[in-house]
Amino acid sequence: MKTIAITGVLGYSGRYIAAEAVRRGWHVVGLTNSGGRLPNPAGYELRPMPWSTQENVLAGVDVLVNTYWVRFSYEGKKGGHAAFSHDEAVENTRTLFAAAQRAGVGRVVHTSITCPDSASELPYFQGKAELEAALAATGLPYSILRPAILFGESAQESILINNMAWSLRHLPAVATFGWGDYRLQPIHVQDYAELAMNEAGSDAPSRIINAVGMETYTFRELWGLLARSIGLWRPILPVPHAVGYMAAKLLGALVGDVMLTRDEIAGLSQDRLAVSGSGLGTRRLSIWLQQHAAMLGLEYASELSRRQ
Ligand SMILES: NC(=O)c1ccc[n+]([C@@H]2O[C@H](COP(=O)([O-])OP(=O)(O)OC[C@H]3O[C@@H](n4cnc5c(N)ncnc54)[C@H](OP(=O)(O)O)[C@@H]3O)[C@@H](O)[C@H]2O)c1
Repeated sequence: MKTIAITGVLGYSGRYIAAEAVRRGWHVVGLTNSGGRLPNPAGYELRPMPWSTQENVLAGVDVLVNTYWVRFSYEGKKGGHAAFSHDEAVENTRTLFAAAQRAGVGRVVHTSITCPDSASELPYFQGKAELEAALAATGLPYSILRPAILFGESAQESILINNMAWSLRHLPAVATFGWGDYRLQPIHVQDYAELAMNEAGSDAPSRIINAVGMETYTFRELWGLLARSIGLWRPILPVPHAVGYMAAKLLGALVGDVMLTRDEIAGLSQDRLAVSGSGLGTRRLSIWLQQHAAMLGLEYASELSRRQ
């Protein structure tokens, strides 16, 4: 039986990838710093992330799948959440790649982002570009997957979509940052997991795949689709970025979370969450919304509480 190490195995996409790996007959080793903090109902063998230990946690591993990353940099709060940053995530991922190289794993399947860019002023897209280059430099065979946004299976797991629905349910109007004509190409997390496992089992030369879904929406269209799905009508107001950011900041403070950062708004409006060409997968956002609309946005999904 082949062994696959998966980072974020107790997190979102990593959990779906691990379940798919088990279905395909792999032995799963989860790499995590959240052992004991997050539930492990599937009973995966857990090892610490390589930057937290001297031992080579990838010894004997055939394939590494990496989902580790932080969504935004956060300065931390006394008595609350610890600080985390993109710089730290880049450094840690480099350590992970070095461990994979030392262990001589057969392939690395790495999660990146649509439109990474080493020249970007946005640390998310710049850091992802830096890591794609760092992985290529290891000389290990790899598949780099570039998703734009993940959704499914439950409402609470689909943070952006759920919190847009939550805003529709709780506010008299919603907003686009500028005209809202920038696009998003969501992919279902199970489609993403199947793609990751296809790549894990592949002998193909190293490659980069845009892991985007079958449907593309502008941000404005996504508001409209969500509103129709949950049976509400709300005005969708175009507002300057700074105004939209202040509103998201205020709402975030009310729910004790970081709802959307200035950089995330910039990334969206630079059209970085879409690519040209056809999408992958079989599960459409529009259909999933019909099936999950009743639950969507009833509860706010908090990024920070996931880290508690
Ligand atoms: N979710 C999306 O819509 C989306 C869209 C585009 C790209 N992506 C990419 O897809 C990958 C996986 O996304 P995901 O949503 O599945 O991620 P996730 O489960 O939220 O995070 C993956 C793992 O990263 C670690 N992590 C996350 N935030 C952290 C923090 N603040 N401090 C320390 N460790 C943290 C955790 O590992 P531990 O086990 O150690 O806690 C977590 O299990 C990422 O590379 C992301 O950039 C996601």
